[in-house]
Amino acid sequence: MFDLLIKEAVLPDGRGPVNIAIKGGSIAAIGQNVQGEAVEVIAASGQLVSPPFVDPHFHMDATLSLGLPRMNQSGTLLEGIALWGELKPTLTVDAVVERALRYCDLAVAQGLLSIRSHVDVSTAPLTGVEALLEVRKKVAPYIDLQLVAFPQDGLFRAKGASENLLRALDMGVDVVGGIPHFERTMEDGARSVKWLCEIAADRGLPVDLHCDESDDPLSRHVETLAAETTRLGLGGRVVASHVTAMHSYDNYYASKLIPLIAESGMHVVPNPLINITLQGRSDTYPRRRGLTRVQELRAAGVNVAFGQDCAMDPWYPLGSADMLEVAHMGVHAVPMTSREAMSWAFHSVTLGGAAAMGLPDPTLREGGSANMVLLQARDPIEAVRLKATRLAVIRGGKVLSRTAPRIAQLSLEGRPDSVNPAEYAPPKDT
Ligand code: FE2
Repeated sequence: MFDLLIKEAVLPDGRGPVNIAIKGGSIAAIGQNVQGEAVEVIAASGQLVSPPFVDPHFHMDATLSLGLPRMNQSGTLLEGIALWGELKPTLTVDAVVERALRYCDLAVAQGLLSIRSHVDVSTAPLTGVEALLEVRKKVAPYIDLQLVAFPQDGLFRAKGASENLLRALDMGVDVVGGIPHFERTMEDGARSVKWLCEIAADRGLPVDLHCDESDDPLSRHVETLAAETTRLGLGGRVVASHVTAMHSYDNYYASKLIPLIAESGMHVVPNPLINITLQGRSDTYPRRRGLTRVQELRAAGVNVAFGQDCAMDPWYPLGSADMLEVAHMGVHAVPMTSREAMSWAFHSVTLGGAAAMGLPDPTLREGGSANMVLLQARDPIEAVRLKATRLAVIRGGKVLSRTAPRIAQLSLEGRPDSVNPAEYAPPKDT
């Protein structure tokens, strides 16, 4: 007797329909001929069943704080940082925990079950760290939450930040963070990258730096990060986040840099929702999009995974824990509209994000964990196009969340009674 049997699912690689049998939190069997009694049966009916979504870049200490203490008027990254500086002294552990848990509820409903969150460690007391360590414990049964010690105001620029960062790591924060482009000088930025990578090497920790989140073509800290990653052999443990300045580099420099990033083995995490709104603010016209070079990095063999970055905070007034919205914006902002690229965008917010976070490969397979999402879509491209409804979210074989299918009831003479967006689909891939 299985705990759960999902019937007629289509998998993200196009296989299907298959049945997925789940027992004891794992996938007991998966295939066309899998049958048997089960405590619960879910009819996928030819719809997509995917590994859960992964967000490899978020700021959970700031989430849902929009409007506190005021709105960001200019919409720039720098005003966002200043605004956060005003909010920080007023934070309490309880308030941060409450907002973070509310966000995690939303994440579960959206099938988002792995999140890497940066947490500001620039200034004492480490309210955010204390709060998110508690949240990490509370959500552990249903969300893999990793925390990054992030010196938002600069490792060397903010007095005491380096000591606070080490203290946060001692308290149990998982990943070493940084923000080299926000240090006072290019030299301080490069020095911070080296310092942080050496700490990570010493402690056996991953690294995830906000790197060159700027329109400045001379912000080139990702070069130092690639070199340090190679020198210290940190390989797959390192993430360069944002890297928007790469959009402004000249092509010759980028052609030298991208192979160095590939050689280092590090991951790159662009955040299209945020950076399409933050970057290019000082441009008149033409105005830069300010996303990193996604297609060129992919072509060089670099793992690129989209992150969400923010939801309703000093930097971004929208956001809804929806990684399909993130992938959708990535498709537009890069831009990349080939069938291959749009399908990749889906995988980047599942498999790509898991690789960037150093998690086990979540591909649905016999013997693997029974963590999955049933979507109201027939394939990954359709899921991105529709930002498909998460019909069921499953973790360890248990259904954590259900959402009713999105179907409109029509009253139009001579037309159908209802419209299901998933039935208005383009032809299958050729
Ligand atoms: Fe960020």
